[in-house]
Amino acid sequence: MAQNATATSDVAVIGGGVIGLAIAWRAAQRGLSVCVLERGELGAGASRVAAGMLAPVTEADAGELALLKLGLRSARAWPAFAAELAQAAGADPGLRSSGALVVARDRDEAEALERELALRVELGLDVERLLPSAARRLEPALAPTVRLALDVPGDHSADPRAVVLALAQAARHAGATLRTGTKVERVERARGQVTAIGLAGGETLRVDRVVAAAGAWSAAIDGLPPIPLRPVKGQILRLRDPAGPGLLERIVRFEGGYLVPRGDGRYVLGATMEERGFDTTVTAGGLYELLRDAGELVPGVHELVVEEISAGLRPATPDNAPLLGPAGELEGLHWATGHHRNGILLAPVSADIVVDGLVGGGAELPAAFAAARFDGVHA
Ligand code: FAD
Ligand code: GLY
Repeated sequence: MAQNATATSDVAVIGGGVIGLAIAWRAAQRGLSVCVLERGELGAGASRVAAGMLAPVTEADAGELALLKLGLRSARAWPAFAAELAQAAGADPGLRSSGALVVARDRDEAEALERELALRVELGLDVERLLPSAARRLEPALAPTVRLALDVPGDHSADPRAVVLALAQAARHAGATLRTGTKVERVERARGQVTAIGLAGGETLRVDRVVAAAGAWSAAIDGLPPIPLRPVKGQILRLRDPAGPGLLERIVRFEGGYLVPRGDGRYVLGATMEERGFDTTVTAGGLYELLRDAGELVPGVHELVVEEISAGLRPATPDNAPLLGPAGELEGLHWATGHHRNGILLAPVSADIVVDGLVGGGAELPAAFAAARFDGVHA
């Protein structure tokens, strides 16, 4: 046990993004005393940059079936999660049940879309092939050049910034302590068990359970076992239609990007996928490609006002699936990271899985998301 340490809560959560906050809320509801330690502002990482799609079907990949199953489970949980959150926080997390269209603009893209359709049909997912005329009846702002579209009625969105605010409020109401401007420098251990957390500035907190929910930075905290986690940069634009809502009703996805309507005249246009370490600069080339591609498919995009440009870091593992639950080799450490492109979608189910692990005796922790699957994989 650390000397001269401050006694603290049952559980310290490192990171105040959507994952750490969802865990803090659920853990506090289940009677644990929880403290979130966030080095910046709440939601300062990927969570404030994210578009907020809840999109297991459009993002499905043939090689990621466990992740697809988890995503579908979390998508089903979202309506009740959002309703409970709104009630608990007195703040709306911005859930929109809009559905999504995936569109192709030339023959190559149309052929690729046919393959995506075949995969989804084989997996029993809810998706329908639409001729361009039918797609334009649903979304009149689509360009006449659209060659083919898929209708994905079950992929929706939430507003991640609103989700962060609501989760913070709900977690506080449930009794959690949220400390911002509090950087965790190290996790201390004795005989294979977590004993304390060392903060920048010298403070030490005595704690025997820690949740590592520091997003792309989760592998960079001293004292934690190595995990193969890397940042994947995404550049994104926040746009607004001065004429108000109506340009698009549904999410529109295309090769290399997406447009997500918030329903009030605001749109999010994202996102690049770049392997550049911890770089979060916004580049002319990244923005140009997003605007060029989106504008080809939805010409009205060119008339939108640019409100914000930003870049965030997706926390990615080698199999693109999250790391959830007890770390095994370090007693008291629970992972909650690696959510890559789907952290907003996966927040409800991730919180349940991690909190089950914290309280013990809950549902069995799924092996597909356990840290043990990366044993022997270099960080
Ligand atoms: P983060 O939100 O990054 O939070 C981690 C927090 O930990 C940060 O606030 C950071 O400041 C804090 N921290 C780090 N180190 C320390 C430390 N040492 N001490 C204390 N605090 C620390 N997901 C979807 O589901 N749908 C989408 O449409 C979507 N779109 C995206 C678009 C872009 C451009 C990007 C970049 C991501 C997108 N994502 C999307 C992914 C999603 O944003 C992430 O998976 C999710 O935000 C991860 O949440 P998190 O809480 O794990 O990490
Ligand atoms: N899921 C969308 C993104 O990560 O850009």
